[in-house]
Amino acid sequence: MMNPRVEAALNEQIKKEASSSQYYLAMASWAENNGLNGTSKFMYLHTDEERFHMLKMIKFVNERGGTAIVPSVDQPPLSFDNLRSVFELLLAHELTVTASINNLVDICLQEKDYTTHNFVQWYVAEQLEEEALARSILDKLKLIGNESGGLYLFDRDLEQITAQNNAPQPKV
Ligand code: FEO
Repeated sequence: MMNPRVEAALNEQIKKEASSSQYYLAMASWAENNGLNGTSKFMYLHTDEERFHMLKMIKFVNERGGTAIVPSVDQPPLSFDNLRSVFELLLAHELTVTASINNLVDICLQEKDYTTHNFVQWYVAEQLEEEALARSILDKLKLIGNESGGLYLFDRDLEQITAQNNAPQPKV
């Protein structure tokens, strides 16, 4: 049996990963409809990664004798102001996910659940990577400003970054 407090915290995190996946899917769809092919591919890949984060946690809870709760999620926004605001929202969102993962680590330590603590370290490392990536993309966007030629090249760059990533592309 899992520690009930740890189990509840993991189920809350499962919901957050599901919400992240839907959020980035909304960004992918918006980018696709606005001619931002690179951003769209990047976000379609990112939505899959978040789904993977969710699945990994669902399996862990069930394998450890807990009961994973497959969550309902809120409707994400239909549209976004511009490219920069999309990545600002992404970074802000990842910061809230990091805070939530840190809280999970804290609960594991309080409850002396070292197995789950060890499992959650994978997410700690993943958050570090995702935040760094979001920050480096935002730095580029700040340099470009509103110059449309620059934004075009940025979008094309993002397509290449996504293509270099080995994770499977979703079928869209
Ligand atoms: Fe699953 Fe982007 O954190």
